[in-house]
Amino acid sequence: MIVQVMATNKNVSRHNTANLRSTLAIVLAVALAYGVSWWLMPNSRPWSALVERPVSAAASPQKKHASRQTPAQKEVLSAHAQTTAKPVVVQTDCSAKKCIALTFDDGPNSVTPRLLDILKANNTQASFFIIGRQIAGHEQIIKRIYSEGHDIGNHTWDHMDFKKVPLDVMKDQVARTDQAIEAVTGKKPAFVRPPFGSFGPEHLAAANRPFILWNIDPDDWTTPDSNAIHDRVMQTARPGAIIISHDIYDTTVDAYARIVPELQQQGYSLVTVTDLLDITADNAPVQPFYYQ
Ligand code: NI
Repeated sequence: MIVQVMATNKNVSRHNTANLRSTLAIVLAVALAYGVSWWLMPNSRPWSALVERPVSAAASPQKKHASRQTPAQKEVLSAHAQTTAKPVVVQTDCSAKKCIALTFDDGPNSVTPRLLDILKANNTQASFFIIGRQIAGHEQIIKRIYSEGHDIGNHTWDHMDFKKVPLDVMKDQVARTDQAIEAVTGKKPAFVRPPFGSFGPEHLAAANRPFILWNIDPDDWTTPDSNAIHDRVMQTARPGAIIISHDIYDTTVDAYARIVPELQQQGYSLVTVTDLLDITADNAPVQPFYYQ
């Protein structure tokens, strides 16, 4: 079109028959080229977007179903699909087996995927007590934790000591973390671990779910030495133990690379707190578990 207008102007300005012929030739050539390219590249046709292409029988049911949804419905469904990878849950009867629950706090962190690799390679499950402020940017890790069947608990937004803040702040810390975890996994955490193991009955009532504490603490956060962490865990491990560690240190992950297979060699099943305590979100008593 642009070429055509320019050519017409040129033609009008010069009143020259030779120029008129050459201009018409150019216009025809451009029109021909446009027509050929139009046939060769169907997607360039202006109405191609409006033409419904036939869908093969095998691929059709979901697409047809999707096409009947409103944009808002599609958004909800796609968010749902992203957040609900079905967890691979391995149930262990801890009344019949020697069980230990490994628990990891304060993540997720850049070291968490390596810990998940170790747990997966040894076919074990653990529990992760997540801090709300660590969630943004680590959503994929949380999805992986969830889909690989580990328990996810709430460890507050900012690692608050419940006893040092007003009850409203404590409630807000737990609620915000619940919401952020649920936005990623589609599931509200069934457990809370109060930071520092510090709480009173009012906090338990406000959270309205079990507080998961621990009875073995290898002090991995004070010890930048994976051998020391390993030795402490191996020397204190016993059936029914809830071991607290932190998936924020390379040294901790190094230690568990050895601890996990060694505990299994000693006949332990490494399980989630759900399995160890034989409680679920539906039947969990509102009480603290395993505080020394
Ligand atoms: Ni902590």
